Order: sequence, then structure tokens, then C-alpha cells
Amino acid sequence: MNSANQTHGGNITEEARKLRIKESNILDASASIVPFPPPKSIHHCLLKTFSGTSLRKYPDCTYQNFREAIGRWHGIHPSMVLPGNGAAELLTWAARDATEKGTSILIAPGFADYARALNCWNGKYRYIHLPLVWSSKTPQTFPLTTNSNVIWITNPHNPTGQLWSRASLELLLQRHSLVICDEAFLSLVPDGEKQSLVPLVENNSNLIVIRSLTKLFAVAGLRLGYAISKAERLYRWQNWRDPWPLNGLADAVGIMLMNDHKKLQKWTNKVHSWILKEGPWLQSKLSSLPGIRAHPSATNFLLIESENSLLQLRALLRKHHILVRECASFEGLGDNWLRISLQKKKDNKRIILAMKNILN
Ligand SMILES: Cc1ncc(COP(=O)(O)O)c(C=O)c1O
Repeated sequence: MNSANQTHGGNITEEARKLRIKESNILDASASIVPFPPPKSIHHCLLKTFSGTSLRKYPDCTYQNFREAIGRWHGIHPSMVLPGNGAAELLTWAARDATEKGTSILIAPGFADYARALNCWNGKYRYIHLPLVWSSKTPQTFPLTTNSNVIWITNPHNPTGQLWSRASLELLLQRHSLVICDEAFLSLVPDGEKQSLVPLVENNSNLIVIRSLTKLFAVAGLRLGYAISKAERLYRWQNWRDPWPLNGLADAVGIMLMNDHKKLQKWTNKVHSWILKEGPWLQSKLSSLPGIRAHPSATNFLLIESENSLLQLRALLRKHHILVRECASFEGLGDNWLRISLQKKKDNKRIILAMKNILN
């Protein structure tokens, strides 16, 4: 029962149980979620939804209001949008299409859920290795060219934090019969939307873009994501899946968040300012620790590397109750790599102090 636990961060319930401490005592730097409490409007929206009759009725199975709100935000027709129970649910349907097209290329190291999704359909895939090279210039040119039917891209890439340029990704649309671009972290990247492939969906029927609200709004528990692709494809997915994959609470919050453009922009700006300030600070502090190299990142997590095993940093959890993401489960990385998600200044300092304590 623990294969999902080994391939994803954020399992604080299980770690707290093992340590016999309260979950709230763990600083979770393994899942890369914005560290501020979610906007108050989410709380209000949930209360309102609870106290009305909304829980009694089924959600609108077309999710039309949510689609329209997302469509207005991205400037696209609502028929090109399909809300999902987190990005993860939509990856499963993208994998069904990928399986029909042939062999998928997955990038290693990369997000493990693409393989999970393909395995649901006995989909064929192979890994190609990403050169672990970080350019001082961001966005970087996507460095790989391969011949295969389908390619899965993550922009920015997880776990390396590299941001790929739209111009370099656009070329993939001519090479592959299906391109799946997971932009789960893109809204967090300062100036990142310029690299989004969303504007290309209209003219490219072989493109699927997957987005998530989980990280930006710190609502992993609500499960909110959406796919953008041609209407015919999304209509097919809708007929495959269960009729109400998003519950009424998630639907209500999603509509509220995406409808208020002013608040959405303000929140996004706050997240960008935090990343611009804390990202380089944490990177330089981590790099000053003995034997550690912290690579630059466009988003809210940093990949660190050492010449030697970093297994001694398991004491971060045992002694300091700080959970970071071990990377041995990422194809192509070993126990000398760790991914650490960005926190507020106070907690970033706590991480550095604890690591100093262990490494010295
Ligand atoms: C690259 C990437 N895509 C998608 C997801 C899943 O997002 P969601 O919570 O919306 O299902 C994650 C979660 O960690 C992720 O890292």
C-alpha cells in the first residue's frame, strides 16, 4: 500500500504516525505548495456552500460555470476546458489518449504520475534522460529531440525547476502526434505565463495542457485542476469518467477563485514576489552548506545535490521534524539528491539551521 507514498511528497499523516507526533508539528518541505494560508475567500465560500442547499444537490455534471470562469481567465472558449479532480485525474485521461497513439516518451528525472497514468491503460513508454544542466538564462531551450508518437512535458520541470521556453516546446508539435504539457507549477513562476502553451491549443489538435490550482492556492485537499485541449477530446474524456469527479465544494471554490480576476492577479503577484525574494536566498544559503550544491529554480522548489549520499539528512525528520523530498524514486537521481520546497523566511531559516546542525 505504499508505492504512492514513495513517489510523491507530502505524506505528513504517515510520517507523523510513525514519529508519534502531531501532523501540525511537521514542517512539510516535501510537497511544493505555497506556504501561506489559502485566501480567506475560500473559507467564506466553503462556509456558504455548507450552509446553503448546495450539499444536497449533485454538482452540475457539465461544470459549465467553472469552465466559463477558466475560459475567461485564459481567453479561450469554455468548450476547450475540462475541470478535474486535481491535475492527477486528468493525467489518467491524457494517458488513455496517449496509449491509443503509441509509445510515450517520459523525461527522467520526472513526475512519477505519468507512468502511473499510462500503466492504467497498459500504455507503452520509455524514458529519456534530461541533461542536468541549468542555464543562467531562463527560460531555457527544451534540450531533447526524439522520435516517438507521444511526449510528456512538465513546465516548469519537476524536480529540476527548469523553465522551458514556449518557442522550443512549440517545435514538438510538429514532431509528435500528441504533446501533453503539464503546467501544474506554471502559475507560480514569475513571468511564467509567457511560456504557457495554452494559446497554442486553438490551432493544434495534438496538444493537451494540464493545469492545477493545488500549489498556487495551497488547496491540495480540495483537488482542483483542469485540462485545456480541443473540445472533441475533452467531450470524449467527459464520457469516460464518472459523472461528478469534482464535488460541489471544489466546484464552488473553483468558480469563485477563477471568476475574480482582480483577486486572482493580486494573489498570484504575492506568490511571485515571495518566490523572487526567498528562492535565491534559500539557494545561496543551501549552497553555502558543506558539500551541497543547490541548483537554480524558476519555481517554489530547489533540487540539491552532493557528491556523497545525503541519507544522513533523514535526521531532518527524526530530529527536527522537517520533511524533505528524497529523490531516489526519481528515475535518474539517487540518494545524493533532495528536493526542498520553499517556505516563508522563518521556516527557510529553520531548514538551514537544521541542515547545518546535521552536516557539521
Ligand atoms: C508536475 C505535477 N503535476 C501534477 C501534479 C498533481 O497536481 P494536483 O494536486 O492538481 O493533482 C503534481 C503534484 O505534485 C505535480 O508535481
